[in-house]
Amino acid sequence: MKKYILALDQGTTSSRAILFDQQGQIHGSAALEFPQHYPQPGWVEHDPNEIWNSQLTVARKVLHDHHVDAQQVLAIGIANQRETTVVWDRKTGEPIAPAIVWQDRRTADICDQLRAAGKARLIAECTGLELDAYFSATKIKWLLDHVPGARERARHGALAFGTIDTWLAWKLCGVHVTDVSNAARTMLFNIHLMRWDADLLALFDVPEQMLPQVVSSSEEVGVTRAALFGGEIPVAGIAGDQQAATFGQACHAPGMVKNTYGTGCFMLMHAGQHAAVSHNRLLSTVGWRVDGRTDYLLEGSVFMGGATVQWLRDGLGIIKQSSDVEALAGSVPDSGGVLLVPAFTGLGAPHWDPYARGTLAGMTRGTTAAHIARAAVESIAYQSAELLAAMQKDVAASHRAIPVTEVRADGGAARNDLLMQFQADLLGVPVLRPKVTETTALGAAYLAGLAVGFWESKEEIAAQWQCERRFEPAMGADQRAALLDRWSRAVERAKGWEA
Ligand code: G3P
Repeated sequence: MKKYILALDQGTTSSRAILFDQQGQIHGSAALEFPQHYPQPGWVEHDPNEIWNSQLTVARKVLHDHHVDAQQVLAIGIANQRETTVVWDRKTGEPIAPAIVWQDRRTADICDQLRAAGKARLIAECTGLELDAYFSATKIKWLLDHVPGARERARHGALAFGTIDTWLAWKLCGVHVTDVSNAARTMLFNIHLMRWDADLLALFDVPEQMLPQVVSSSEEVGVTRAALFGGEIPVAGIAGDQQAATFGQACHAPGMVKNTYGTGCFMLMHAGQHAAVSHNRLLSTVGWRVDGRTDYLLEGSVFMGGATVQWLRDGLGIIKQSSDVEALAGSVPDSGGVLLVPAFTGLGAPHWDPYARGTLAGMTRGTTAAHIARAAVESIAYQSAELLAAMQKDVAASHRAIPVTEVRADGGAARNDLLMQFQADLLGVPVLRPKVTETTALGAAYLAGLAVGFWESKEEIAAQWQCERRFEPAMGADQRAALLDRWSRAVERAKGWEA
């Protein structure tokens, strides 16, 4: 009987379930979108029960469609949208409010107050994070402040907090755990000492009793309730989706970089066994903890990646479906000098300006929809190039100068050849697209599979990584510098619109 690992990839817009075989190949997959809720401008919510139901549905579907029973699944690995915050009643298992999604900006003012009180540095040193509404801490505080009686119930141990990994593990196995990579995104976790930080809990007024137990990324945390899949399956791997993708891309050594082109773009570089310190406003974060060893990463996130293409489709209506963008953008030789800075929800790393707004610059009478489409595609590459430049500066300043020799790409927009080529041109290093682009799910599968002996070592995993296409930089250094300079000027114009 063939054996598999089942990866659950719970993302911001969809829940996916993928079965992997021992060669790290996809045996089957299922995916389901679930509703997004925008109750007020700047707010983004999910219904935790809709998340769970969609995740359970696709997990059952992939097993059913491919005639795989619970006994053939050696373990489940979870990769999840990070930071999104759920608080639920321990007795009833019912959430006390909708989940506050990582994109939600409702707590920006709490961050402004803490910044004014001079707390940003303490937070950065302890957690490796920028003081921003992106992370869980202010979201938990908001829920405890606004749901009647919540803080009191939390103090008495009646409520549980979790990011989405924790919520899924609770629903699957009845355990209250989170892994180190997800804990590192709460803004309550000391990434050097690897434990919840008492000072931060006091600062955000979060009772410790509601926090999950922190576990490693590759260990058995429980078994699924038998009724769910017709047999018990161990849950043995957990990681935030971007860390999981880094693991799935086999970026196991310092200086190795992956970039995921999803709704946003998430570029992560392996930083070794000590937390890196960024002087360029990148995040320093835990990658994973496997076999007692913690690997750290440097991360830069761009809020609008593939979502910029969705805006061309839904906002401007110049394409019918996202995949049309490559043909439209490719119908002109370049953007004709047009630059789109897609700061629709502010700017992430390395600018961190929540008040920046989308800006279209450099248009002339000759500008067409094709030029704007091309500028939109190029904006994804420009923003990613800024992230890599910040990483390279941090590496150079750390006396651990490990040159970045390539970037491994994944995510939906990595299928766009035009984007990949322009990215290589702007970065000045090759961009490599792997054969298996479901690297998030693959990373979660690897973490779970390592824990149960399905794979023996990281070396075995790294040997499975195969390149599908390599994009070599073909642009001269002068042209690259000139383009990046124009981009920087456009970014300056996008900053500070909303106060
Ligand atoms: O930090 C947010 C990130 O984990 C979301 O990833 O793929 O669900 O958009 P994704």
